Amino acid sequence: MRVLGIETSCDETSAAVVEDGRILGLGIVSQADVHRAYGGVVPELASRQHLAAIAPVVSEALEGAGMRAADLDLVAVTRGPGLVGALLVGLSFAKALAWRQRLPLVGVNHLLGHVWANALSGWTPAFPVLALLVSGGHTDLLRLDGPAPAQTRILGRTRDDAAGEAFDKVARMLGLGYPGGPAIEHLAREGDPEAVRLPVVARLRDSLDMSFSGLKTAAYDLVHSARPPAPADLAAVFQARVVAELVSRVRAAVERSGVRTVLVAGGVAANGALRTALAEAARRDGFTLHVPPPALCTDNGAMVAQAGLAAFAAGERADGSLEPLPSIEAFGWKEAPVAQGGRAGSRRRSGPHGA
Ligand code: KG4
Ligand code: ZN
Repeated sequence: MRVLGIETSCDETSAAVVEDGRILGLGIVSQADVHRAYGGVVPELASRQHLAAIAPVVSEALEGAGMRAADLDLVAVTRGPGLVGALLVGLSFAKALAWRQRLPLVGVNHLLGHVWANALSGWTPAFPVLALLVSGGHTDLLRLDGPAPAQTRILGRTRDDAAGEAFDKVARMLGLGYPGGPAIEHLAREGDPEAVRLPVVARLRDSLDMSFSGLKTAAYDLVHSARPPAPADLAAVFQARVVAELVSRVRAAVERSGVRTVLVAGGVAANGALRTALAEAARRDGFTLHVPPPALCTDNGAMVAQAGLAAFAAGERADGSLEPLPSIEAFGWKEAPVAQGGRAGSRRRSGPHGA
């Protein structure tokens, strides 16, 4: 099926045509330059930028694919979570296009979009899988028991800031601008990850939840202390600690669930230090790891098309009444018991990938 995916949940306007797991055409307009002066995304500005960009971006995707709208089989659009005004732009466009061309329409959960980006870069869908979703708005450990959106459960989540949000806030403290993740990663290359100490993240027993605001606050205190560390050192220390927190939760989730395939998703998955550390953990613990190439980690229409196809195949349908769901709670995902799968502690491997 030829699927058009439309993404407008935050600060990227994007559309893509996807067929058989291949991206035939892609358009992306980033608003990062518009929001940079404010140190973060300004919702009203985002809506206006999406309005200006949506039609050209869809045309670009279609032209790249050498198609007209009439050649499509399905329209998929992000319905949330995200900024309500921004979501409305994509939804209105998608609804009008589907109605005009008499095409089926499906609404996509943005977070599952990130997960399904893996199917565009080497993951052949098979379940159950675990997914580490690390973006600017969310940091969750998910378990997917099948391709239908409702087969997703939450194993653990951040109790405070999302990992990307923490990167962005620390970057702001260091005067590095928005988005902060790539800037911190760049600066960290010249820093010493052991130059200073940040506090240990408090952990609830038996929980896969995560926390990043303590690290962020400690970084703030250091920046404003009598003897602040060199910015590159702080960037390196902070990045190393965020990576360690994420990797530790992934390893615990694999061990406790017995599920041995992990998909990584979301903007922070573009981070080289995180990718390297997860690859090392996968090698040591003997699980299979999939991480999309950096360009598919951040928001894009192709991931929405791919997730939309999975939802459509599972029977989901939408029509002109499709409304935005700005908050993740509205999707009704359940929290799964931590030891789902029931083989906690019994799956440590020896052999070629042994610990
Ligand atoms: O998934 P995404 O594009 O948008 C959301 O849905 O939030 O993620 C954006 C987030 C931002 O917080 C950005 O700073 C972070 O991903 N990010 C990174 C990197 N590239 C983007 N964080 C760390 N290292 C990177 N290389
Ligand atoms: Zn995203």
